[in-house]
Amino acid sequence: MRTIYMDNNATTRVAPEVVEAMLPFFSDFYGNPSSMHDFGGQVARKVAEAREKVAALLNADPGEIVFTSCGTESDNAAIRGTLDSYPEKNHVITTRVEHPAVLNVAQYLRARGYRVTELGVNREGQVDLDEIHDMIDDQTGLVSIIYANNETGVIFPIEEIGEIVKSKGVPFHTDAVQAVGKIPLDMARSHIDMMSISGHKLHAPKGIGVLYIRKGTKFSPFFIGGHQEGGRRGGTENVPYIIGLGKAAELAMEHMEEENARVKTLRDRLEGELIKGIPNTLVNGDRDHRLPNTSSLSFEYVEGESILLLMSDEGICASSGSACTSGSLEPSHVLRAMGVPFTAAHGSIRFSLSIYNTDEDVEYVIEKLPPIIDRLREISPFWKDHVEGRPISSLMAGIHPEHTRHR
Ligand SMILES: Cc1ncc(COP(=O)(O)O)c(C=O)c1O
Repeated sequence: MRTIYMDNNATTRVAPEVVEAMLPFFSDFYGNPSSMHDFGGQVARKVAEAREKVAALLNADPGEIVFTSCGTESDNAAIRGTLDSYPEKNHVITTRVEHPAVLNVAQYLRARGYRVTELGVNREGQVDLDEIHDMIDDQTGLVSIIYANNETGVIFPIEEIGEIVKSKGVPFHTDAVQAVGKIPLDMARSHIDMMSISGHKLHAPKGIGVLYIRKGTKFSPFFIGGHQEGGRRGGTENVPYIIGLGKAAELAMEHMEEENARVKTLRDRLEGELIKGIPNTLVNGDRDHRLPNTSSLSFEYVEGESILLLMSDEGICASSGSACTSGSLEPSHVLRAMGVPFTAAHGSIRFSLSIYNTDEDVEYVIEKLPPIIDRLREISPFWKDHVEGRPISSLMAGIHPEHTRHR
C-alpha cells in the first residue's frame, strides 16, 4: 500500500542529500572538533561551514547560532537561561497556544513562584497586540511567543510583537520551530533576541536543534559544561547531525521560495476540494496568515481519532487536533484557546505537507476522505442530531466528559 505522508509538522523525511552529507562524519571524519590535531581541526572547519549555512538561512551572524539537541532544548535554554540572567525579574509572558516545550516550562516556572501571563487568542488564533503591550511591567524578565503554530499553522505578527517587547526593554524569544524553512526569516532586520529551531522539521534528522541568540543578549547556559558553542552550550558537538542541519539549511535556502509556492498550491487544492466535497467542514485559524503547508480542518460531528485510524488504513498519515489527556479525549489546547466549538474541535485533522508531496497524493486524499467521513457520520449521534435539527447540547450534556473516559 502506498504511504501518503501529510504529517510534516510532526516530523519530516530526512532529505537524501542530507543523509549523503552526514555519512562521512560517522565513519572517516570522527575527530573531535575541539582537539588540537588537524584530524579534529578538519571536522571543526566542517562544523563552522554548517554554522555558516544555518546563519545564512536566517540572515544571522554565525556567532549567533548555538547548536542544541532539539527544539525542546532550545526553548528550555532560552527561557530558563534568560531568567537565570535576570534573577531580579519574576514575570514571564507567553501565550495559551504554545507547544508544550514552552507551556510546560511556564508551568514549571509558575510552580517555582514566577508570575506567568498566558495570553489568549481570538477565534482566528491571533493574539491581541495591545494586550501584550499592557501586560509587560517592570518585573517582566522575558516574553516568549510562538512564531507559527504547529497545529493550525497560524503565523503571529512576530516583528510587530518584537517591536512592542523591545520598546519596553524586555528580552524576546520566539519558538520558530515550525516557521524555519517554510517562510523567510531575516534576523538582521528583526526584533527577536532568541529563536528556537528544530532540524527534523526541515528535512534534517531528529535530535539536532539551534538556539539563535542575538549578539549582546544576556544569557546563562542551560547545559553547563565545556567551552563548546562559545560557552553557551556545553557538550561535544553532534557533528554528523550538525552537518546534516547545515545541508538542510542550504537546501531550504536554494528551494524554499519556489517549493513552498508549490506546496501552498497543493495545500489549497486539498483544502478547497475537501471543503467542497464534505459538508460541515471548517478551516481552523487565520487563513490569510498561515504556513503554506498546513491545513487544520474540522469535520463537524465526527471524532478526529476515528478519522485518523480509517485514513491510516488507506495509507494516509495526518494528525488529529485532539489528545488523550487525563483519561478523557479533550480537544487540543490550541483549538480550545481559539474557542472552536466542541463538535468541531473533536473532528479536527491537521494535514501538513512538504516538498515531497505530489499532485497524486492530494488527489488520493480528495478521493479517499469523503467516504470515510460519510461512514463515521452514519454512526455519529451528533450528526443524527444535527440532520434531525435537535440541539446538540442536550446530547452532549449526557456524554461529556464521562462518556469519553474510556480512552
Ligand atoms: C512549535 C514547536 N516547538 C517545539 C517543538 C519541539 O521540537 P523537538 O521535537 O525538536 O524537541 C515542536 C515539535 O513538534 C514544535 O512544533
